[in-house]
Amino acid sequence: MKKISKWVFSVALVSNLSIGAVSCSTPDINNEINNNTNENTKSKTIVVYFSWSNGTENMANYIANKLGVKTFKIERELPYSSNYSELSEDAKNEAVNNLRPKMKEYPDYINNYEYILLGFPIWWHVAPMIIGSFLEHYNLDNKHIFPFIRSSAYLSEHLNRALNYLKDNSSKDAIIEKEVYSSSRNDVDKWLVNTYLDKLKTTE
Ligand SMILES: Cc1cc2nc3c(=O)[nH]c(=O)nc-3n(C[C@H](O)[C@H](O)[C@H](O)COP(=O)(O)O)c2cc1C
Repeated sequence: MKKISKWVFSVALVSNLSIGAVSCSTPDINNEINNNTNENTKSKTIVVYFSWSNGTENMANYIANKLGVKTFKIERELPYSSNYSELSEDAKNEAVNNLRPKMKEYPDYINNYEYILLGFPIWWHVAPMIIGSFLEHYNLDNKHIFPFIRSSAYLSEHLNRALNYLKDNSSKDAIIEKEVYSSSRNDVDKWLVNTYLDKLKTTE
């Protein structure tokens, strides 16, 4: 319980600050993207995300627009409540019981992509359980997963749990790449250059 109240407190303090991250994108990132991507790499890349209060969704759209690639939004079959207290209890129950809620859809086309930029918020100190539903459904062997993760408190303990969760719930030979744990577009730009584009240089 102690831990829980700690993040609730931090959420109250930090969330307003982190939500309004300003775009600091420079022409450099656009040049880097133009110079290192092409129709082939775009056709192998997708942004997959889960979001409840739209922070991750905004970042997912930002990334997808920058790269010129498609998005897929993970949704629960039974939609989460828009009421925070109800949602929070529901999410807590899923986390405590390590559930795998059913997704609204499991499109086959996900199998066509080799580079999956996977966005989600921290929920109850770890990834939302529906991320496990996604990871378990697909054979991600030899696919590159680039996590972009948001939170309120940005505790490293939550990040580590989320990263372990990704590893534990993905197929054995999935390649989990370096994550970005930030709501700043500047940080995400740097991550795109240093991880995603860098990986393309060595694999394509
Ligand atoms: C049910 C729930 C649980 C959360 N648990 C945590 C948590 O354990 N640690 C934390 O730092 N933030 C936590 N948060 C805050 C979210 O990670 C943060 O607000 C995030 O930016 C939301 O992303 P979204 O707008 O894409 O849904 C939680 C939020 C919700 C709704």
